[in-house]
Order: sequence, then C-alpha cells, then structure tokens
Amino acid sequence: MVVNGKKLANQVEKKLKKRVVGLKKKSIFPKCISFVATQDPEGNFYTKLKKEAAFRTGILLKKVSFSFKNPKQLKGLSKLISRFNGDKKVHGLMIQKPAKEVILKNFKTINHFQNFWLETTNLINPEKDVDCLTSQNLGRLLIGQPRFLPATVAAIIKIIMGIFKSLEMLEGKNIVILGSSPILGKPLALFLKDNGATVTLCGSKTKDLLSLTKVADIIVSCVGHPKLITKEMVGSKSIIIDAGTKKVGQKIVGDADFENIKDKVVYITPVPGGVGPLTVISLLENIVLAAENLESA
Ligand SMILES: NC(=O)c1ccc[n+]([C@@H]2O[C@H](COP(=O)([O-])OP(=O)(O)OC[C@H]3O[C@@H](n4cnc5c(N)ncnc54)[C@H](OP(=O)(O)O)[C@@H]3O)[C@@H](O)[C@H]2O)c1
Repeated sequence: MVVNGKKLANQVEKKLKKRVVGLKKKSIFPKCISFVATQDPEGNFYTKLKKEAAFRTGILLKKVSFSFKNPKQLKGLSKLISRFNGDKKVHGLMIQKPAKEVILKNFKTINHFQNFWLETTNLINPEKDVDCLTSQNLGRLLIGQPRFLPATVAAIIKIIMGIFKSLEMLEGKNIVILGSSPILGKPLALFLKDNGATVTLCGSKTKDLLSLTKVADIIVSCVGHPKLITKEMVGSKSIIIDAGTKKVGQKIVGDADFENIKDKVVYITPVPGGVGPLTVISLLENIVLAAENLESA
C-alpha cells in the first residue's frame, strides 16, 4: 500500500488551524523566520512550500535570504539571529540546511561548513529552535526530554503512528535506518529506540545492507541516493519509509526503487507526496508549540 502523506498532512493541518485560531483570539500571531542561502535552489523551493502551507494555516513564515559568498552577509546573519531572538513577535527561527552538493560548491571543505553550521545554529534561542538544530535541543533528545523533534523525524513518526496507531506497537520491532545525519537518522534512531524498537543505524561504510534490510520490519531511508533500496533488499512484510530526496532531471525522487518495490511490500511512502508534506506540517506544529510555550512563560 502506498502511504498518502498529503492526506495525513491535511488531517494534521485542520487540527493545527484550530490551535492557530485559539492563539489569534489571544492576539498571538505565530511567526517564524527561515534563513535560506541564495545558492541553495532546493532549499528555496522547499521554503516556498513551507510558506504556502504556513499561509493556509494562519502562520507567518518569512524567508530571509543570505549568500554563502558574501562575508558581510554571513556576519550579518549572527546579528539578525540575535535581533530575532529578542523579538517577542518572532516565535521560531531556523536555517535551511543545504544539500551536500551546495556545501561542496560553497565551502572549502565539509569541516568548514560544519564549523559555520555549529556556530550559527547555536546562536538560535533554543526556545525558538523549531527545527531542533541547536546542540541544546539535540542534547535534550539524547536524554529523552525533547523540546522539539526535528520536523522530518516528527513526520516519520506520524507515518509510523498512521500505520500502527500507537507508539507501543514499536516495542520489539526491528528497524533499519539508512543515513545517520544529526538532523535525521541519529535523532530518529534515539526516538525509536526510546520507544522500544531495536534500531540499526547505517552509514556509507555499512557492509552488506541487504542482509540487514531483508530482516527489518521497518526500513527508513534518509540518504539522497536514488535506487539505493532495491526490490531484492525488501521482503513481503516490509514497511518502507523513504525520506531521501534527490533532483534527477526535473523530478524529485527518493532512495527506494519505488516502481519495482511498491507491489512487493506492505507499506511504502512515495517521493514526492510521502514524508515531505508531513515534514512541512510538523515544522508548522513546532512553530505553534513555540508560540504557545513562549507566550505562556
Ligand atoms: N523528506 C524530507 O522532508 C526531508 C527533509 C530533510 C532532508 N531530506 C533528505 O534526506 C536525505 C538526507 O539528508 P541529510 O541532510 O541527513 O544528508 P547528509 O547529512 O548528507 O547525510 C546523509 C547520510 O547518508 C549516509 N549514506 C551515504 N551513502 C550511504 C549508503 N550508500 N548507504 C547508507 N547510508 C549512506 C551518510 O553516511 P556517512 O555518515 O557514513 O557519510 C550520511 O549519514 C537527503 O536526500 C535530503 O534531501 C528529506
């Protein structure tokens, strides 16, 4: 069965709209600032989708562009973040993480980017860190006390809940996660493990993926490598959650060889239309949660 992420997202959107109406009755207008690099076409595309969904829900999501190539603007980013940290009308702050290709084109090395990313994201007030980018909020996840879940992690959990109806059903499940970045695979692994699943977290050096995926109840892929998951790697009882995205020609595709797998497995999420719409709505939920928390403090 193909999971309809759009339909699930629409259901969440309806409930979220009601929370926004409740906030607006108290003269609280949820607002988030998203910093996006001009060199990142995909980041700009996804931000446009987030802005549209935010508008439908009654949330203001404002894009602030900056250039990786402009040292003045990079410095200005820090100043802007501290200004918005102190602005009571702004409830959420996030920076769109660029894809690896964009990083390699704009930074001398991945290490240079990582230093920039760590320094800049950690300027965000953790209470406004709606995409869970700061070390403090990631640390809270590590000890099982999350303030916000990263939006894509929350999206994947919504899909699992849609299938199993309760997190208790995760107990004893064997889950293989492909991709272990700090914004996706790693926090997801922590959350699933804390809810009773046995998790295998794989990276680019993992050997013999097939032997791991073949016996998994759930395979979650967060890599960005088209056709990484082939028909041979899945079983008839497998559940495939595909969070990977990659632009191939004019199309966005996931990590799974969707056409050849979809009739073999129990559940599979498509790309686009699976994890993506739920990621957008999960981010909006975090913005509303931040607004509720900040205003009640
Ligand atoms: N659907 C959504 O809403 C959404 C949201 C965010 C991101 N994404 C997508 O998710 C993907 C991952 O994003 P990211 O920011 O986490 O990327 P990232 O930081 O580049 O991490 C990619 C991860 O994939 C692993 N990997 C690479 N080749 C592999 C292989 N052959 N087998 C297993 N693992 C492999 C890497 O392993 P090593 O650690 O060993 O290098 C790394 O952990 C991208 O396609 C991105 O566009 C989707």
